Amino acid sequence: MSVEGRACILEEPGTPAVVREITVESPGPNEVLVRLVASGVCHTDLTVKMLNGNGMAFPIVLGHEGAGIVEEVGEGVTHLAPGDPVVLAYRAPCEQCPACRRGDPRRCYMALRPKQRIRRKSDGALCSQVLRCGTFATHTVVHAKAAIKMPAAMPLDKACLIACGVITGVGATMNTTPVFAGSRVAVIGCGGVGLSVIQGAKLQHARQIVAVDVNSVKLEWARKFGATDTVNAREVDPVAEVRRLTEDGWDGGVEFAFEATGIPACTEQAIKMLAYGGRATTIGFPAATDSVTLNLGDMATGVYWNKAGLNVCHCGDALPSSDFPLMAQLYLEGKLDLDGMVTRTIGLDDVEDAFHEMETGNVIRSVILF
Ligand SMILES: NC(=O)c1ccc[n+]([C@@H]2O[C@H](COP(=O)([O-])OP(=O)(O)OC[C@H]3O[C@@H](n4cnc5c(N)ncnc54)[C@H](O)[C@@H]3O)[C@@H](O)[C@H]2O)c1
Ligand SMILES: [Zn+2]
Ligand SMILES: [Zn+2]
Repeated sequence: MSVEGRACILEEPGTPAVVREITVESPGPNEVLVRLVASGVCHTDLTVKMLNGNGMAFPIVLGHEGAGIVEEVGEGVTHLAPGDPVVLAYRAPCEQCPACRRGDPRRCYMALRPKQRIRRKSDGALCSQVLRCGTFATHTVVHAKAAIKMPAAMPLDKACLIACGVITGVGATMNTTPVFAGSRVAVIGCGGVGLSVIQGAKLQHARQIVAVDVNSVKLEWARKFGATDTVNAREVDPVAEVRRLTEDGWDGGVEFAFEATGIPACTEQAIKMLAYGGRATTIGFPAATDSVTLNLGDMATGVYWNKAGLNVCHCGDALPSSDFPLMAQLYLEGKLDLDGMVTRTIGLDDVEDAFHEMETGNVIRSVILF
């Protein structure tokens, strides 16, 4: 049986997101229908809007950082039942690609997706779902293996952050580019993702964590989440300052630098602030035309002489079925701060306002409560 609800939709390129009535079909085989309880607003939703859907067909249901309750399970679903609390994973491994076939699901090329089952009620148009989720909606249908069960004690208005910002940032330090104990780490961009990188670096026992941002309020918050030093890139050259703060008689620099802004110049900075043999990780979502210039031959900062490396992080290279419950456990044990990341709760009608705040205001995560 189909259900009726509401969703925040991009209807056509260049227009604001609007709330519309939707009809959601019953889940098909290996799918589940989820009633959303909460969804974080990640910068990637804004990027999808700014890039006019980034290749997705309109209309598009936004949102990919969601938690909710399973309402109905499709044929063949045995690991979930109606009433189960879940967080939605947009990169549940496909089990078919070359990486999955060689037993390396964290490097899965694609992800499990449901059939499109959300329709705009006014004209019946089938909607795309951002990152196969579409969580700015009262209801959505996802692949059953993309719905990860949460412990009963886990509050869903915090659990939703695990789906993207938190697993991306923490996972970057655990899976994409494992941070070793005693290392020096720099994090460029201290939004929801960057602050999660900081939390991850702390969990991995980094010795020094240098937070870089252009917003002094974000830098104050970064200290609360574990940064040992802060650099305001509006006031000083972040590369020189990170090298100065990490000076060890060997020109300073960090073993690990994470970019979490989506600005190509910040990825270049991350590479230039590495110590010999260090590794930068780019996390921000690029536009098709974005590129970086890597100098090879500069004796101090060139990639060749500095033996620098660059990794790319997709959703923290997570294995959601084991990593999401781990994040919940860390939260419940008081080792991962999700409460402090929810700086604003909003309604479904406030998404455009949340986008505006993301660009101009002091907000870590706005969380939509349904
Ligand atoms: N790779 C992935 O899997 C993945 C997952 C989630 C988000 N993302 C992307 O990561 C990026 C960060 O996402 P978010 O939700 O944390 O965004 P956000 O808007 O919450 O945070 C971005 C931060 O960068 C800071 N910033 C802006 N310009 C800067 C500069 N020149 N130097 C230093 N800091 C600067 C901002 O002040 C802000 O604190 C976005 O591009 C997003 O699309 C990627
Ligand atoms: Zn995201
Ligand atoms: Zn795969």
